[in-house]
Amino acid sequence: MLRTFPLFFLLAACAAIPGTQAERERYFLNEVKPVLQQHCVACHNGTLPPPALNLSSKATAFTRSASGRDYILPGDPDCSLLISAVQRGGTHPKMMPRTDVSLTEDQIGMLREWIEDGAYWPEGEKGTLKPQKSVENP
Ligand code: HEC
Repeated sequence: MLRTFPLFFLLAACAAIPGTQAERERYFLNEVKPVLQQHCVACHNGTLPPPALNLSSKATAFTRSASGRDYILPGDPDCSLLISAVQRGGTHPKMMPRTDVSLTEDQIGMLREWIEDGAYWPEGEKGTLKPQKSVENP
């Protein structure tokens, strides 16, 4: 597997994974960004001091936790702390003080797929995440 190979990103652009950059961007904008904005960015927006997860941008999100784990490890959802955390659902008192931040199976699957496919995250305005109320949790 490509799991620990640091050049995975560069290689993925050439060969390993189907889908164009435009498709990846669409996936990020239509699937990933709305879920993170609605369920995570209210807290994970830089108000928690680093190394807490900050999902406002690619630069702040692609970092490591205090324990040295990558929050998002492109190509490897199982080693991404973000996935471990959402798979724990509402059970972790520190991370999910409110059960309504739990994601559905579909949303978790979508995030896993996104990371597996290289966790494409655009620069600039498209890649800037701001807190947003969800339809279910106004
Ligand atoms: C109500 C506020 C709140 C919301 C909403 C929230 N979190 Fe957190 N989260 C926290 C706090 C507080 C911590 C603890 C900070 C730390 O560990 O440094 C944390 C920790 C984490 C951690 C690292 C620690 C760990 O192992 O659990 C991850 C990863 C994480 N959150 C992901 C998410 C994701 C993804 C979402 C959206 C599905 C989310 N959080 C929604 C407050 C929140």
